[in-house]
Amino acid sequence: MRTDSSPTTIFRQDYTPPAFLVETVELGFDLAPARTVVANRITLRRNPDAASHDIVLYGEEIELVQLRLNGQTLEAGDYQLNESTLTIRSAPAEAVLEIETLCAPAENTALSGLYVSNGNFYTQCEAEGFRRITYFPDRPDVMAKYTVMLRADKQQYPVLLGNGNLIEQGDLDDGRHYAKWEDPFKKPSYLFALVAAKLVCQEERFKLADGRDVLLQVWVEEGNLDKTDYAMQSLKNSIRWDEERWGLELDLDRFMIVAVGDFNMGAMENKGLNIFNTKFVLANPRTATDVDYAGIEAVVGHEYFHNWTGNRVTCRDWFQLSLKEGLTVFRDQEFSADMIGTDTGRAVTRIDQVRTLRQAQFPEDAGPMSHPVRPDSFVEINNFYTVTVYEKGAEVVRMYQTLLGRDGFRKGMDLYFERHDGQAVTCDDFRAAMADANRRDLSQFERWYSQAGTPVVTARTRYDAVKRNFDIILSQRGQAEQQPFHIPVAVGLLGADGRDLPLHLEHGKHAKGATTVVLELTGQEQIFRFRNVDERPIPSILRDFSAPVILEYDYTDDELLHLFNHDSDPVNRWEAGQRLAMERLLKLTAQVAAHGDANLKLDHTFINAMRAVLTDATLDPAFRELALILPSETIIAEQMDVVDPQAIHKARQFMRRTIGAALKQELLAQYQANQTPGEYSPDAASAGKRALKNLCLSYLMVAPGADELKLAQQQFDNASNMTDRSAALVAMIHSGADAGPYLKSFYADFEHEALVIDKWFAMQASAPTSDVAAVRKLMEHPAFNLKNPNRARSLIFNFTNANPARFHAADGSAYAFWAEFVIKLDAINPQVAARLARAMDRWRRYAPALQAKMKQALEQVAAHKLSNDVAEVVTKALAN
Ligand code: TRP
Ligand code: ZN
Repeated sequence: MRTDSSPTTIFRQDYTPPAFLVETVELGFDLAPARTVVANRITLRRNPDAASHDIVLYGEEIELVQLRLNGQTLEAGDYQLNESTLTIRSAPAEAVLEIETLCAPAENTALSGLYVSNGNFYTQCEAEGFRRITYFPDRPDVMAKYTVMLRADKQQYPVLLGNGNLIEQGDLDDGRHYAKWEDPFKKPSYLFALVAAKLVCQEERFKLADGRDVLLQVWVEEGNLDKTDYAMQSLKNSIRWDEERWGLELDLDRFMIVAVGDFNMGAMENKGLNIFNTKFVLANPRTATDVDYAGIEAVVGHEYFHNWTGNRVTCRDWFQLSLKEGLTVFRDQEFSADMIGTDTGRAVTRIDQVRTLRQAQFPEDAGPMSHPVRPDSFVEINNFYTVTVYEKGAEVVRMYQTLLGRDGFRKGMDLYFERHDGQAVTCDDFRAAMADANRRDLSQFERWYSQAGTPVVTARTRYDAVKRNFDIILSQRGQAEQQPFHIPVAVGLLGADGRDLPLHLEHGKHAKGATTVVLELTGQEQIFRFRNVDERPIPSILRDFSAPVILEYDYTDDELLHLFNHDSDPVNRWEAGQRLAMERLLKLTAQVAAHGDANLKLDHTFINAMRAVLTDATLDPAFRELALILPSETIIAEQMDVVDPQAIHKARQFMRRTIGAALKQELLAQYQANQTPGEYSPDAASAGKRALKNLCLSYLMVAPGADELKLAQQQFDNASNMTDRSAALVAMIHSGADAGPYLKSFYADFEHEALVIDKWFAMQASAPTSDVAAVRKLMEHPAFNLKNPNRARSLIFNFTNANPARFHAADGSAYAFWAEFVIKLDAINPQVAARLARAMDRWRRYAPALQAKMKQALEQVAAHKLSNDVAEVVTKALAN
């Protein structure tokens, strides 16, 4: 139900403990798509820490049938019911509530609460979906033990799953059956889940470190059992890794993953019953790319790791979301890095993380939805499942490890669990555990949670040849009125021969012979002095991207080339290449904007640097691929005061075309040298080779001749896996060649693989050859379906977010398209609509003519009756 009243803002400072705590929850479900009956029996006890004596239950889109308090049926005057709450005033200190409600899962297109996907029942309760199932004190600091009885038609829903352990099952009359599940652990309501469906599973018994035998299951729709191996393998790896790296064990006898085709996000960590978007479960070489495989490993790990960081220790309130999400992203990042197991492999994952931050988090933090890792207010919590809370939150956790060392960080984690197992806590509690376990004062570190924006760190250096001192002067600036952050800046010094110099940091504690030290910048400006420096070194600053900041340092081209050729830190080696490329991209963009793209030039120095990396067989192919990718159009745009998307696109295309032509022979040679014949394997080494090979192909295909086209066509025809097949097809589409027949055959081959058809839409939507008319045409395709989030994202989001030159067409036609679909989607699924709404975040940075059209589109949306989700996003975008 939509309310006409303007949305209310919720403030972190207004937190009060719940008036009543829930001890037990007994739920009974009579499942039917149009009308599901939910019987809910909860025992409550007044919270001695709270002042109020009122029981406040939340409920949304459900119909109250009956309400009993301590055995007595309550009449309308005994409680207050409005659109979102049910209040019983001055309730007794001990209360048993019996609540019967109705809901309509088949009509639930928002995919929050209990819903139907392809005829099966699933739930999604985070953040506030449980209140769409029953009336409940639906807040994470209310933790209770749950027992759940599921009843449904046996033939249509042969599989009935719940949290915890199956304790009873059997048949009922009328072809129905039941299953009773009990979760032995107290949990907040957002971790509740049920599945009633026609599914099949891959299952396995697995031995834990302590010798216990557990049952692992991956549940999918029939026909998909040929795509569950990798998820199962990833789950086993996750369990092992959590034991080995953190001493954390699985606490249940049974752990289930269920894949569903309609899902708002990636996956959900419901206790013992993780529910996943099919995208992060289903994979075989024919249908999934290397990137998909890596995503499955990361998300399976992420949800599994939540069992400790999120479930056993949960959040006191939703402002603390990063307590579980930042920490769990950090854990899944470390897991993926450890699974590769090599130093360069680890660095490659780190470079990917930096790219995500720059592509999505820095822009978010500089735009209208900017918020601290621990926000101070929100209108709709679903809008705060952001790259800031997740990815920047993970950076904040990583900085503890950088400051405290691996062992110190582990001590902090151990103390965190020792203190808070079974509790709902805050980000301050986590920081206190880190500080106390290491006897460190981390009070200044708190600002990473409370201050928004990306800090800028500026470095200057000076060398005194007589005294042999080298000084690095670091200063920082945040947003206006902000206090200085506690910033770990990892630094190394390179000699003229390219080698790391041994470091002697004055007043610093570091191992003898260390070549990287972590400088702690806590003030507005600080001088760090290195002694016994025999030559003027070239500084490598912010190694391993030791803090989520923007680093300013006046490097000369020669210095950058030196770092690009020699830095022992692969992240900064890559970074030097990105700086070289960015300098040129910005100059070229300015030239295109002023004079068009006729007389552009790219210097040989840069081309030779690219050649050197491309052909250096001592370097990991995965690293070479990253070093050769130019900064994205979005990242270039972030560097400009006034963004001209067409000029950026032309400049970048010019650079790619020039590199492709100049290095044609080398690209061809590397294309051949990095083939991966034989059976497909998603391991990092093979994936790295494919990535480099396919990058070579994409450079060769910027302006393809007959030979290059043939190469792509052959790769498409002969590909033994989806990585190579889709890369060939993307290269053809992007080149502007007639890819029609290939798109057609691709579609025919994979018509029944929804995740592959998503790719088919996505690659067309993001092609610079597709304008808004082409996207509208694709919407008429029978396979397009606005109600399915994956499909909507594949076509609409890939156009608005990954095709900037076309999205920002001068006539504003794509903005009108955006407005139309924000509004249409909002009526179906507000969470998905609000994410699309964010495509306009940076509207104020565009040239005046575009700005005016974007504003118009925003105002058009704002004039509609909107969900809280979309209203918050467009209101903030339009605010000053
Ligand atoms: N907790 C989930 C995760 O990070 C996120 C999530 C899944 C979610 N589904 C959601 C958040 C729906 C909001 C709404 O793994
Ligand atoms: Zn998570």
